[in-house]
Amino acid sequence: MKLLPVIFLLALTSATSALDNGLMRTPPMGWMRFYFFGGSVFAVISIENDPKNCISENLFRDMADRLAEEGWKEMRYDHVMIDDCWSSLLRDKDGQLQPDPQRFPGGIAKLARYLHDRGLKLVIYGDLGTHTHTCGGYPGTTLDKIETDAQRSASWGVDFRKLDGCYSNEEEQQKGYPLMSKALNATGCPIGYSCSWPAYRGGLPPSVNYTLLGEICNLWRNYDDTQDSWDSVQDITDWFFDNQGILQPEAGPGRWNDPDMLIIGNVGLSVDQSRAQMALWAIMVAPLIMSNNLRTLSSEARAILQNRAAIAINQDPMGVQGRRLHRRGGHVEVYWRPLSQSASALVSLSRRQDMAYHCHTSLAKLNYTAGSYEAYDVFTGKTLSGLSATTEFPVSINPSGVVMWYVYPKMHYEHPQDDGRYPYIRQKYRMSSSLDFHKPRVVPPSLL
Ligand code: GLA
Repeated sequence: MKLLPVIFLLALTSATSALDNGLMRTPPMGWMRFYFFGGSVFAVISIENDPKNCISENLFRDMADRLAEEGWKEMRYDHVMIDDCWSSLLRDKDGQLQPDPQRFPGGIAKLARYLHDRGLKLVIYGDLGTHTHTCGGYPGTTLDKIETDAQRSASWGVDFRKLDGCYSNEEEQQKGYPLMSKALNATGCPIGYSCSWPAYRGGLPPSVNYTLLGEICNLWRNYDDTQDSWDSVQDITDWFFDNQGILQPEAGPGRWNDPDMLIIGNVGLSVDQSRAQMALWAIMVAPLIMSNNLRTLSSEARAILQNRAAIAINQDPMGVQGRRLHRRGGHVEVYWRPLSQSASALVSLSRRQDMAYHCHTSLAKLNYTAGSYEAYDVFTGKTLSGLSATTEFPVSINPSGVVMWYVYPKMHYEHPQDDGRYPYIRQKYRMSSSLDFHKPRVVPPSLL
């Protein structure tokens, strides 16, 4: 199949309806307390023993300050996700969830205000836990508590709610997930909604009804939690692309598949593997939620997570999820995603761990139609200029690494005032063909 029909098909199949709260037209980005400050371990560490790292308002304020002051917020990393283990072990006398008084003495509303003052959003975690448990052992949201908990979230100023599914059964999930959606809408506050429902039902139809999910949730976890390892990233990637026929058409503005956190910046991934996770998550139009320690992030990890082109591709307004095009000899895979303004993203991933992979290819071999193209290498910043679809160009991929290109058709100079004497006019005109999110300082160098 040639590229244009594929674009048309993908655009059509993604035109499904989404939860009517106007939120998350592009996938959310932010920081999550889960992996680095792992699970319940850090909740049981008391505030006296480790005030810096235990799950507490101090930790979230510190991370919020970093998001706001270290360039993250400008890159759209603006959600702070509390995740599990934030509450008291018991509801209060009125049956309301309450934060742990030692670890959140100021309360959740105050924390939400702190974040809002810095242009950030607060995400809170709940779990259908009808046997009264979240995954970490904190009070769950039983069916009779759904409205209460939705209203409490709204009164605290929470921007987004995750509803996990530990300790709940199929029937409870079938009732609970749509009920929470209704209850959040009924608060009258725009509250984003992440459903873990599919992850607890095997992620695939007929157990999972993606049409319904798209109508009631802004995003949904389909599969296992990311662990801090390349094996885990590969396992998740394989599952999502092996099932792309089912999952790809379900994503679109306001309704996203969620392959879970970015673990870039922890210990499990090399620099090449970190680039691979960033690239594949951009192709999957995945939420970019990092779970790492922003205090000690290496400069390499920061550069990957703040790569403007990778983020711009992830956040492309068309919101069409990409696909795996080729699997060559079990070693090299090619992924592709259509983007707005007739551009596209291409990723070549090498599964080899023993040595780099070298080859020559052309855009025609990757299904591009005849035309004139430029290809901006997202991680080196170099541009391959003046490509025709049949131009052969070299590709070198590091072991378990990627090469990622932003490919865009070359513009013709038809600007009425452009007679070649005013390069600044040409520059301004040509920039309109690049990613909006790039803005002047990050347009492919060939356009400067
Ligand atoms: C489950 C979820 C994770 C995280 C933990 C918290 O494993 O899938 O994303 O929320 O629970 O306990």
